[in-house]
Amino acid sequence: KDALPPSYIMRPLERTDYAAGFLDVLKVLTTVGDISQEKWTERYDWMAKRGDEYFVLVVCDGEGEVVGTGSVIVERKFIHNLGLVGHIEDIVVNKDQQGKKLGLRIIEALDYIAERIGCYKTILDCSETNEGFYVKCGYKRVGLEMAHYY
Ligand code: ACO
Repeated sequence: KDALPPSYIMRPLERTDYAAGFLDVLKVLTTVGDISQEKWTERYDWMAKRGDEYFVLVVCDGEGEVVGTGSVIVERKFIHNLGLVGHIEDIVVNKDQQGKKLGLRIIEALDYIAERIGCYKTILDCSETNEGFYVKCGYKRVGLEMAHYY
């Protein structure tokens, strides 16, 4: 009941996921742009060096194609006794794979990482249409989002 579909796996993002459809999955969420393999590798390596801060997970189907992803970024604070806060970002499941609990499993895994790292809370922004999904994942509505775009 609490598992991925048979033959599916969840694992950290790897450098070779450029060729496994990772960026195509993100396109289900928003604009990604035309990212060359060189630029991808540069960004991947930058994140990998910050391995205690950036946690990007992927779900792959039986063929090894990336079909879902999600991230948690751990922010180190002064307040709350040098508290840590997890920021959940870029949760997305391929359209033809939605409804199989992949999103839920990704959030569960990211929550587990955040808790084990020592975060006292994990937060995220989402649209009204996704509120029900995050409620099912154990999140509740708190406060109000503000943004300043440049
Ligand atoms: N509203 C209400 N309930 C929902 C919604 C929704 N939009 N989406 C899923 N649920 C419910 C499911 O019915 C299921 O309930 P159940 O346990 O009673 O059966 C439960 O939530 C878990 O659903 P999953 O099957 O795990 O959801 P899925 O794998 O389809 O992933 C996701 C959900 C990630 C929102 C997916 O629909 C998606 O990729 N959407 C497009 C991208 C997107 O909007 N991502 C979120 C951006 S916000 C952010 O990244 C912080």
